[in-house]
Amino acid sequence: PSGAKAAPNRFAFDAIATSTADDVIVPPGYKAEVLVRWGDPMWSDAPEFDHDTRGSAASQERAFGDNTDGMDVFMHEGHMLLVVNNEYTNRGIIWGNNPDGKAASDDDIAKGMMAHGVSVVEITREDGAWKIVKDSPFNRRITPQTEMVLTGPAAGHDLVKTDADPSGTRTLGTWNNCGNGVTPWGTYLACEENFNGYFSSSETVQDQKPVSITPEMSRYGISTNDWGYGWAKIDNRFDVAKNPNEPNRAGYVVEIDPTDPNSTPRKLTALGRFKHENAEVVIANDGRVVVYMGDDERGEFLYRFVSEGVYAPGAPTDELLERGTLSVAKFGEDGTGEWIDLTPETTGMADAAEIAVHSRMAGSAVGATTMDRPEWIAANPNMAEVYCCLTNNKNRGVKPNAGGDETPAMGPNPRAENHYGQIVRWRPQGGDHTAAGFEWDLYLLAGNPTVHSDAYAGSDNITEANMFNSPDGLAFDSNGLLWIQTDGNYGNDGDFAGHGNNQMLAGDPVTGEVRRFLTGPKECEVTGLTWSPDRRTMFVGIQHPGEKGDSHWPEGGSSVPRSAIIAVTREDGGLVG
Ligand code: FEO
Ligand code: CA
Ligand code: CA
Ligand code: CA
Repeated sequence: PSGAKAAPNRFAFDAIATSTADDVIVPPGYKAEVLVRWGDPMWSDAPEFDHDTRGSAASQERAFGDNTDGMDVFMHEGHMLLVVNNEYTNRGIIWGNNPDGKAASDDDIAKGMMAHGVSVVEITREDGAWKIVKDSPFNRRITPQTEMVLTGPAAGHDLVKTDADPSGTRTLGTWNNCGNGVTPWGTYLACEENFNGYFSSSETVQDQKPVSITPEMSRYGISTNDWGYGWAKIDNRFDVAKNPNEPNRAGYVVEIDPTDPNSTPRKLTALGRFKHENAEVVIANDGRVVVYMGDDERGEFLYRFVSEGVYAPGAPTDELLERGTLSVAKFGEDGTGEWIDLTPETTGMADAAEIAVHSRMAGSAVGATTMDRPEWIAANPNMAEVYCCLTNNKNRGVKPNAGGDETPAMGPNPRAENHYGQIVRWRPQGGDHTAAGFEWDLYLLAGNPTVHSDAYAGSDNITEANMFNSPDGLAFDSNGLLWIQTDGNYGNDGDFAGHGNNQMLAGDPVTGEVRRFLTGPKECEVTGLTWSPDRRTMFVGIQHPGEKGDSHWPEGGSSVPRSAIIAVTREDGGLVG
């Protein structure tokens, strides 16, 4: 149906149909096996996952975290280290053994907390099967209680000081780590996304706005109630009435050295504070480090960081992501755009620390373009070109959080009601990732050509054979194919008729052709993608299968659904990207 037969295609697979099966499906000639699941013990002193209790805080702290998301593989002294974000946990699943699906004890709350963070786990392939290496000296669980340092302009500033840390330089933990990034010097970047949903306030005020919730907190979605995790009940750091600056210590990109399990992760305030999706790192022509980042919220912005110093292999790298310029994107209707630097002069803010902590307000001050929820960003390895998923915007015109900007349909966000999402791409002026100007176009508009014939059918490269909604995960392989993962509506009816379960597709950036490669089990999201160093295995994350109660993947029967990473290989042992 694509009509691309004339040109030699770069896809090494035949497209598959959509699916509503409770299983992972890959094209003929490929196979998918489970590598590691939520709750699998990473050390032999921890118990196997217990389907009746779903574990305890103690077992969870020694086991692979929940809801796998961004990940990457690092080789170190012959060891293959997989570093994975464990974004969050579904309360109805992790506490689904309790009659009301809620935490029944403080240990339940702590179990949920320990399911968050980052898992570093050695992996190996034995007799053709992938598995984790229990007890590897490199295995590590990073949790919301792991000690970290604050770096960059906000470190030591009054906005990040708390009673527990009057220096404003040492903080505990990371949570809601969504997408990721990697640096050329071999560190992993974990991106803190919906950090706000864990804070609550013990102050009870009726009929008026509680004084403990400041306008700055409101802009970041912090309110008197958390999203049901209950963390303030066991740790008053999460009570903003008692610790009003604690939220200012989350919402960053966190740099982790996977080769040293005793290393202290670094929160990089120079890269701004917002709901970070991922962090796509490229080295500019002059050696400066450029990081592209999206803020995943309706009406929020696209950001770029450019380091002050240049990267040189072997030279010290610590300061590269501590000092530089943070900018926001402004798109024009004419296919051009510009990066506007966030400085005290352009924003009217006092200093770089305030811009780092209140980046959203800084972006509003300079008139950044409000976007349809920027998710993953991926840079084309073959040219200076960058892609970003704009996943959807179900409520244009409704301000996402107090203090947000108007969100008109314009530029790269052209549709008033946007249930489907789109992928925007831009080429920096002169092929220079540090340039102020860029040119942009839309790589695709997702849609449903079987239901609509207008803009909601999608762009020309969207057909009945490859349609999907809500692009989210995005990564290029070494051949320059663009892999697209979805986190969308899997109802398979109405506007979404024929879309099936969430899925993964590959796109050719040159021809625009898109083919479906994988479909996930019921009620999952497909997110997180990386490869073995020999490129013969692709690792794909399956997040929250059965989030509404209708999946028993991967173990089947009446088992508890478990987020897991799968290893996809070719039956002939060939390359998969
Ligand atoms: Fe965690 Fe925006 O996805
Ligand atoms: Ca995502
Ligand atoms: Ca999403
Ligand atoms: Ca998700």
